[in-house]
Amino acid sequence: MTKRVTVKTLRSMKQNDEKIVSLTAYDASFARVIDEQGVDVILVGDSLGMVMQGHDSTVPVSVDDIIYHAKSVVPQCQRALVMADLPFMSYTNPDQAITNAARLMQEGLAHIVKLEGGEAQLDTVRHMTRHGVPVCAHLGLTPQTVHKLGGYRVQGRENDDAKQMRADALALQDAGADAVVLECVPVDLAEKITQELEIPTIGIGAGRVCDGQVLVLQDMIGISSLAPKFTANFLSDGRNIPDAIKAYAQAVRDGSFPTDQQCFY
Ligand code: KIV
Repeated sequence: MTKRVTVKTLRSMKQNDEKIVSLTAYDASFARVIDEQGVDVILVGDSLGMVMQGHDSTVPVSVDDIIYHAKSVVPQCQRALVMADLPFMSYTNPDQAITNAARLMQEGLAHIVKLEGGEAQLDTVRHMTRHGVPVCAHLGLTPQTVHKLGGYRVQGRENDDAKQMRADALALQDAGADAVVLECVPVDLAEKITQELEIPTIGIGAGRVCDGQVLVLQDMIGISSLAPKFTANFLSDGRNIPDAIKAYAQAVRDGSFPTDQQCFY
């Protein structure tokens, strides 16, 4: 029987300098292929609001939407740890968060949940992790707050913001978080956070200094309407989909993805 990746596996991968490979999936067919290609963490992300539902942000996504997609993904995964996003407004206090996290795990069958935010989420993360819910935090560009941020922009370029993000990452770790996604963060800041934490960082637009990388599947196979600077089309060069996923996993593991051109400074 294939051994499942767990949050402990992720931590030991960090200790052993082994890169963590992560990719989103929202349906059974892709989930099976992605799992077969050895991707470590499959994210049922609220990016599904954009790539599956056609919205211009993740804001409209509901807990029921995530459950619907997670239920299709998880049974296909023999090895990958399946992470599911708590969507916008589903974790405004610790009780609401744990109720919705339980739904993602019991109805959606997810193994770990992800939520966006730093300081404001510490009580929530503490509450969930004390009750046995594995949690991945998400710092930097937090797409659920796009309307507050005023657009999809790199975060942490100013000294005060960078200092706050480093403090948030450490506080989230102390609150029990098992991993942190860093999205659209300058490389030197992502590097400091990665060095300061014992838990792994998984970057998207945060440089190869992170302990792992995550991409949205549709970006990675070049079918998104607007491909962000930090992504790459691995389906080029005449590859088929399984080979594209294999090439992405290999590039993350050997450090050839992301390149300097795919990073922010
Ligand atoms: O929803 C998602 O796909 C994500 C990734 C961008 C990390 O949160």
